[in-house]
Amino acid sequence: MKVIDNKESLQKWRASSADEVGFVPTMGNLHRGHLSLVERSMSDNDTTVVSIFINPTQFGPGEDYGSYPRTLERDLQILDELAANFKDKHLVVFAPRTNEEIYENDFQTKVVVNSHLTKILCAKTRPSHFEGVTTVVSLLFNLVSPKRAYFGKKDYQQLKTIERMVSDLELPIEIVGMEIIREEDGLALSSRNQYLSEGQRAQALELRNTLVELKRNYSSDFDFESFKFRYCGQPGWEYLEIYSASELLPVTASDSKIVALGALKVGKTRLIDNIEI
Ligand code: PAF
Repeated sequence: MKVIDNKESLQKWRASSADEVGFVPTMGNLHRGHLSLVERSMSDNDTTVVSIFINPTQFGPGEDYGSYPRTLERDLQILDELAANFKDKHLVVFAPRTNEEIYENDFQTKVVVNSHLTKILCAKTRPSHFEGVTTVVSLLFNLVSPKRAYFGKKDYQQLKTIERMVSDLELPIEIVGMEIIREEDGLALSSRNQYLSEGQRAQALELRNTLVELKRNYSSDFDFESFKFRYCGQPGWEYLEIYSASELLPVTASDSKIVALGALKVGKTRLIDNIEI
């Protein structure tokens, strides 16, 4: 495994490698969800690049940028162990040593998907989040020049926004959306789960359980508003919505696949999850 901590060395390495590259962008604090993306990329591609960068521009004021878990040593060890299972493949980790490695020279550009995708759901409480994500992901795409990039479906709105950006900008990158990895009781893995106390961990299951209940009850004449009224009365619910799975548009009779998405705040921890129906 090769570790690169600055942009210039990454660019030099990329210029010298003729391999098709798979790319897994992360903010570190790796868990089994991230590792499923890395494993899939390592199976699909000769070389995989994993980036570890806690991107300040996707956090709003008062959010957890300062306290976001920074566990680089441990992340590198986990990746090194994983790479040992793929003997004939290469793993490169790009972990910029400072924020200026990414945002240098008084960086002044934003990449914005200007559609409903960045105005609904999470964007209502995190209005600049998605432009922070699309800006850093496009910059990383430019540095890494991947053939494929891997994103988890837990951040469903992020996945759809990136798919749209790649399609609009004709970027020659295949976006691979990967299934949510869960704890045994159903809680979706997230770096933020570790903020939860034992009691809050139990409360957090309300999000998953409600989505499962919604799926169980869903039918063509499903009364979504009454469902919401019945299940999401507790404080902490930020949203529960259903949309078309393909583009996150209002559900119509012709949609073959829909997705229900929810956000629940447990104490200070904001959790998101979704279920395809
Ligand atoms: O999903 C994440 O961890 C981040 O939003 C990403 C894609 C690495 C961009 O910072």
